[in-house]
Amino acid sequence: MTLENIKLDVEYVRSQFPAFNDPLSKNWSFFENAGGSYVPKNVIDRLTEFMTSTKVQPYANYPMSKLAGEQMDNATEYFAEMINAKKNEILIGGSTSINLYVLSNALKKILDKNDEIIVTNQDHEANISPWRRLKNAGVKIKEWKFNLDNHELEIKDLEKLISNKTKILAVTHCSNIVGSINNLKKICEIAHKNDVIVIGDGVSYAPHGFPDVKELGVDFYTFSLYKTYGPHLALMYGKEEILKDLPNQNHEFLNGQYPYTLNPGGPNHEELASLIGIYEYFENLYKHHFNQSEKTTLKKINKINNLIAKHEEMIANPLLEYLNNREDIKLIGKNKIKNKNRAPTISFISNKISSENFSNKLIDKKIATRNDNFYAWRCLKALGINTNDGVIRISMTHYNNMSDTEKLIKVLEKI
Ligand SMILES: Cc1ncc(COP(=O)(O)O)c(C=O)c1O
Repeated sequence: MTLENIKLDVEYVRSQFPAFNDPLSKNWSFFENAGGSYVPKNVIDRLTEFMTSTKVQPYANYPMSKLAGEQMDNATEYFAEMINAKKNEILIGGSTSINLYVLSNALKKILDKNDEIIVTNQDHEANISPWRRLKNAGVKIKEWKFNLDNHELEIKDLEKLISNKTKILAVTHCSNIVGSINNLKKICEIAHKNDVIVIGDGVSYAPHGFPDVKELGVDFYTFSLYKTYGPHLALMYGKEEILKDLPNQNHEFLNGQYPYTLNPGGPNHEELASLIGIYEYFENLYKHHFNQSEKTTLKKINKINNLIAKHEEMIANPLLEYLNNREDIKLIGKNKIKNKNRAPTISFISNKISSENFSNKLIDKKIATRNDNFYAWRCLKALGINTNDGVIRISMTHYNNMSDTEKLIKVLEKI
């Protein structure tokens, strides 16, 4: 079988996630994945194991403690391999919002009065507010606005905004409302010609394929592990040459010991160790689909990413087509996924009923979704959508199947 013919075995995938057999969640079609995803059995097992045998203070010389520390180190190493980073470029924090706030505080160091920071109006607030707040340090904030006709961030508009005063650009790799994948590699190339540091928000991107941060060329990149099949933690990558010179925000004696210098405290031990379960799940996915062994984790991840992308495209396009063809629905973002140009994070509003009412009708039919502004309220404001009622968001991931899509379209037709 050629690589192009291999399809994601979604039944195998679903068998790895206990939620699909749990009495409470069993009969639901789950479409709130951009909010938070289910976890595979490996993660639950790792968490249970840690709590049972190694829930002691790590890095001492007795065996339970040694093993605790080893698991935490291994989890970090595996994730570094998965996203093509070095181990000392990985930080684990409580959430992406916290990670970005902590980073913005540290990056004050490179800013002078009258320097400029570019933020977008397409991002989640987590990658806007911390940067906008730096205006208190005398910095000027510029906004890269998306095009209101196609909802895309246009590179030509960025080129007009960057100046020799620009120091930081905070931009999403994929908006949690619009769903388009922004060309982060190109954005970084343009920014770097002007020595601008790029902060990429990968929260809505990573659940659909882990990024290769070196290929993207991004300086800082963060995503929420609770949306990539793990516990409530978030990962931040920071380019070593920048990270090592950032001020120490941790205990004073840790000076110079990056990446531990950025966060004013350590991560949640048991949850960090349980991240090994995500790595194992992806290893198992690889073994299940491919006979041929690959030398590096990154190559395996690339192949799995492609399988996932093809599957998501297959299950999301019929829904996009359905929504796009309805006169009474306004679909946000692209109406078709082609060559990974969009995530299956699909937002819309109805011109007949409120988003809250609409979403409750879906819930009545055991379709788990919600209406909200999803903290991308600047994006909704720009689109002229009521930020309290928000949009209805259907967010799929690779464990959704065609039956989910068919059921949803049938229910939408009735509504
Ligand atoms: C695109 C995007 N960025 C950032 C965040 C914030 O992530 P966290 O909840 O980990 O702070 C979210 C959360 O929904 C998001 O969707």
